[in-house]
Amino acid sequence: MRVLVTGGAGYIGSLAVWRLLALGHTVSVVDNLANGSLAAVQSAEDLAGRAADFVQADIRDTDLLIRLLRDVQPQAVLHFAGLKSVAESVALPLRYYDHNVQGSLSLLRAMQETAVRRIIFSSSATVYGQAARAPFAETSPIEPVNPYGRSKWMVEMMLRDFCAADPAFSAVALRYFNPVGAHPSGRLGEWVAGAPNNLLPYIIGVVQERFERVRIFGDDYPTPDGSGVRDYIHVLDLVEGHCAALQVGPGFSVYNLGTGIGYSVHEVIRAMQVACERAIPHEVVERRSGDVAISIADPARARHDLGWQAQYDLMAMCRDAWRFAEQHPNGYGRVAAGAS
Ligand code: NAD
Ligand code: WQD
Repeated sequence: MRVLVTGGAGYIGSLAVWRLLALGHTVSVVDNLANGSLAAVQSAEDLAGRAADFVQADIRDTDLLIRLLRDVQPQAVLHFAGLKSVAESVALPLRYYDHNVQGSLSLLRAMQETAVRRIIFSSSATVYGQAARAPFAETSPIEPVNPYGRSKWMVEMMLRDFCAADPAFSAVALRYFNPVGAHPSGRLGEWVAGAPNNLLPYIIGVVQERFERVRIFGDDYPTPDGSGVRDYIHVLDLVEGHCAALQVGPGFSVYNLGTGIGYSVHEVIRAMQVACERAIPHEVVERRSGDVAISIADPARARHDLGWQAQYDLMAMCRDAWRFAEQHPNGYGRVAAGAS
């Protein structure tokens, strides 16, 4: 297949680029490099032994996307491009609606104009409401509690409406739970500039002595050890989920991508201690506002419809994430200055 990957220079997108190339697909990448790196695309190419086309551009530039889609004529678009910090979305909501919603609208317009009729969209488990009870099925109540989550939900609704209007169009929204891990070679993974919001990058920062200790946000949740429980999923499993979703359609579909297994903050710290063979200082602090006690996927629909099931366990996630961190103590090096 010819596939266009938006956000292919980012964490998950670059692993998808590697996998698509390795499977023999023809891959074009569009990324504005606001939070991505050309070095990640280069590593994906090296690992796959094949090259992708790269265009540095913003998906909000519809005219450029139209030209690109006419040129590439992809059979599918994997749409990763977007902003992903919950905390930043609360402070700068318009920025999130601009990149995530307006960016996706621009992409859909360009796809309509060029008759490209298949998209796989990176949604998030964050769309599930506080009232939903874990494990979350795709039918669980939706009520995102922050602008980031609402931006994902808005795009899902846009895709559903668009599919209803064009029966030949195929859109798959994949609701990721907590993606972690890296390519087992240690050459592709996640690096966060500054203080990460997410647990695993923060733990790694403590191991690298960039931060003093892990702050465990609350130990009085109704969970076995009182800390928050999450469904961490290896990024390799996530990428396989995208490959499986390429077969779906037409129409609008939505799938959870999670393992169905939850781990507490304490369990993640313990697993990472084993992976990096050292003690990780930590302390319990106040709950973080907006956190739920437990977020776990019911992955039955993806298993049934896509034949997809997560393969990797928490130790593999920690080992691979640590291998990448050891090889990239400063990330990929130069990350382009942020766009507007
Ligand atoms: P990332 O920041 O590493 O990758 C996103 C990429 O998109 C970056 O390379 C960035 O430069 C690019 N980008 C952002 N805005 C753009 C724009 N307007 N035009 C062109 N390129 C743009 O993030 P990631 O972790 O790889 O996440 C990929 C997708 O998955 C995002 O849409 C994110 O919301 C979603 N998601 C991520 C997680 C997670 O925990 N990582 C969980 C659920 C959903
Ligand atoms: C995991 C657990 C924290 C940091 C977020 C987004 C979600 C998705 C994934 C994009 C929780 C605890 C964390 C720390 C801690 N991203 N924690 N100390 O909140 O489940 O999900 O990232 O789509 O949309 O909401 O992930 O990694 O921040 O937290 O104790 O320093 O670790 O309270 O229980 P979360 P997380």
